[in-house]
Amino acid sequence: MKDKLQAIKDEALAQIEKAVDLDRLNDVRVSFLGKKGQLTSVLKSMKEVAPEERPAFGQLVNEARAQIERVLEETKEKLERQALEHRLKEEVIDVTLPAKKNNVGHRHPNTIAREEVERIFIGMGYEVVEGPEVEYDLYNFEKLNIPANHPAKDEQDTFYVTKDIVLRTQTSPVQARIMEQGKLPIRVIAPGRVFRSDEVDATHSPSFHQIEGLVVDKNITFADLKGTLEQFAKELFGENTKTKFRPHHFPFTEPSAEMDVSCFKCGGKGCRFCKGEGWIEILGCGMVHPHVFEMCGIDPEVYTGFAFGVGLERIALLKYEIDDMRLLYENDARFLKQF
Ligand code: DAH
Repeated sequence: MKDKLQAIKDEALAQIEKAVDLDRLNDVRVSFLGKKGQLTSVLKSMKEVAPEERPAFGQLVNEARAQIERVLEETKEKLERQALEHRLKEEVIDVTLPAKKNNVGHRHPNTIAREEVERIFIGMGYEVVEGPEVEYDLYNFEKLNIPANHPAKDEQDTFYVTKDIVLRTQTSPVQARIMEQGKLPIRVIAPGRVFRSDEVDATHSPSFHQIEGLVVDKNITFADLKGTLEQFAKELFGENTKTKFRPHHFPFTEPSAEMDVSCFKCGGKGCRFCKGEGWIEILGCGMVHPHVFEMCGIDPEVYTGFAFGVGLERIALLKYEIDDMRLLYENDARFLKQF
């Protein structure tokens, strides 16, 4: 028995020495010290040893076990150290390698322009509101005094979802929605996407953006409209910007106008940028039509108001002197990076 024990111990130590990694070392542990391991089986066959020799033999087994465990432990530490050193060597970081370029994105010129317009109007006490892009014909046209036979409702201009539902062709329906809520006075702007059945070219897109404005209160006059929009133009295009209001027609405002700003490139003298005009058309506006008030539940005898609509792309194109609207939608990073 003693010889057998000695042989097991020698074999265990030999195998430990040969173990090249931690897995292999663990296999050795299991095969000698595990439940079914060789050393354990020696203990189980204790009955073959004469009773008086059992204590001494038991002690020998324990010593053998302790020795194997100690060597196992030492070898384990050695192998772990080697593995760590190996990994450290493998994972060396070459600090002299050029760094990866960190591409940080930024806001789209349309977004910058929208936030600029929002900032100006928020500064004048306006609230920013939104309306749905898929809109009822009722809000997009009817309540804005655009009756059934109006040319703006032509299928050439409008994307119809059903007979009564359209992709909104303007942000003006938000006016009707806000007025209907009946919370007066009103001072809002409503930026958002609009849709028209247009072919894509340098100045047209089937989907673009507008910012609507609406003010309703007692004693609001055309002078308020002019003062507000003049201030807006100065903040957006510079202190020296002059404004000009030309009579126009919109079904939901009366009187209506279009506002031009003096060309901020040439100061009004006329240049390539303003096509020699000295003026650049910028928005539509007017006093809210009494009939629109009535359809939205507001008494036109008590309240008056003004409204305006600005094309957001137009602002972005002007501000950044971009000459083709398509560039705003192509999402070419080389273009967008410039703003
Ligand atoms: N909705 C008009 C358009 O798309 C723009 C506009 C004109 C809006 C006059 C207004 C306004 O609120 O008063 O052409």
